[in-house]
Amino acid sequence: MNTFCPAHHTGTSMKDVDCYEQRFSVQFDFPVYFTRDLFHPENPLLASVIDRRDERRRHRVKVFIDAGVRTATKNILEKIEAYFRIHTDRLELTGAPEIVPGGEQAKNSWDPAREAMTRIADSRLCRQSFVLAVGGGSVLDMVGLSASLMHRGVRLIRIPTTVLAQNDAGVGVKNGVNHRGMKNFAGTFAPPFAVLVDYAFLQTLPFEHWIGGVAEAFKVAMIKDADFFEYLCGRAAALKQRDPAVIEPVVKRCALLHLNHIRTSGDPFEFGSARPLDFGHWSAHRLEMLSENRLGHGRAVSIGIALDTVYARQIGLLSEQTRDIVLDALDGCGLSTWSPLLEARFSTGRLKVLTGLDEFQEHLGGRLTITLPDGIGNRVEIHKMDETIIEAAVSFLKQRSAASAGAGKRSAA
Ligand SMILES: NC(=O)c1ccc[n+]([C@@H]2O[C@H](COP(=O)([O-])OP(=O)(O)OC[C@H]3O[C@@H](n4cnc5c(N)ncnc54)[C@H](O)[C@@H]3O)[C@@H](O)[C@H]2O)c1
Ligand SMILES: [Zn+2]
Repeated sequence: MNTFCPAHHTGTSMKDVDCYEQRFSVQFDFPVYFTRDLFHPENPLLASVIDRRDERRRHRVKVFIDAGVRTATKNILEKIEAYFRIHTDRLELTGAPEIVPGGEQAKNSWDPAREAMTRIADSRLCRQSFVLAVGGGSVLDMVGLSASLMHRGVRLIRIPTTVLAQNDAGVGVKNGVNHRGMKNFAGTFAPPFAVLVDYAFLQTLPFEHWIGGVAEAFKVAMIKDADFFEYLCGRAAALKQRDPAVIEPVVKRCALLHLNHIRTSGDPFEFGSARPLDFGHWSAHRLEMLSENRLGHGRAVSIGIALDTVYARQIGLLSEQTRDIVLDALDGCGLSTWSPLLEARFSTGRLKVLTGLDEFQEHLGGRLTITLPDGIGNRVEIHKMDETIIEAAVSFLKQRSAASAGAGKRSAA
């Protein structure tokens, strides 16, 4: 079959080229469970998930745990070890759980990933052994990358422990680390063996990592699910007050929207140039880096959503009223709609955040493709963002923030 060989540049005519078209597809499947107290001795879920292919052998498992989770969760290491002792007929823990740095420092250099790979090698894991990653999105990304590289892919079970990791980062197919100052510049697409969401981990989260995941819920609701958006807006105060009865359904619905997108979008490994689930992210990734990670991913996404919401209003995709509902709801949850970093400039006068557009295009490849809301619950892709309109959106957010700070002072007086 001489159908598509790009032989033109050699001057060879296509009919002279000996080419065989190679085409196959690989099916991926992984379950995502929602549970509580995963390592409780009487919770059978983990052991049965590891054994879900009924392979009739004792499975070797290496556990990596986020240092922040280890500190916050009483006796977590002992609980994990006790769980493996109880299920010793089916599971073998290969050494004590490894504690890895939590937060963006897990991804900001290659050292933690290199260390994790060394530990996987030292444990003599084979491709059918398991790596269990317990932690926030950063640890899952780093350990996931390490597992995907060893033997070209050791089975990975993710146990996400922040809101953002449970409703977004932990349920997808990507992992990676930051490289040369760019977010997720190095990574792989590698679906996990399973994801186990344990709501009990959320109790110990500092507010920042509780609310960060709510920004991702707004993101996906705005472009895919108007009812969910309304639900979130109506519960902004409860989300700010860390009401578990509200956050758990939010986590689940948001996770299911992400899973649905990956399953049905037709492009789970992002071969195309569009990445709808990254609405609000082109500036967010740059703000994280400009702030040297003082702005966490979720809070940066909230600011990114605010910027793109005002932009969408300026180009007629949203009404003024909808724009204000979005901004008020983000503020009402305790998220942010402004950062002075938005107005940081290079000596040329160009806004620094605009570099995020170039990086976004380079990362996805092909044509610049930015997803914006088209009304609430719908989306549209645009291929150019007007820098003058971005400047105007930045000014709008600055003035709005100054006005609400002034109003706050007046009401306190
Ligand atoms: N792979 C993907 O598809 C994807 C998607 C979205 C985001 N991400 C990535 O996820 C990262 C952000 O993840 P995050 O928001 O989960 O934050 P994080 O992983 O950076 O963790 C934040 C902090 O919370 C601590 N922590 C974690 N769980 C805890 C718990 N239960 N109790 C107390 N402290 C706890 C950590 O130690 C850390 O200090 C970013 O690097 C982002 O790029 C990846
Ligand atoms: Zn995100």
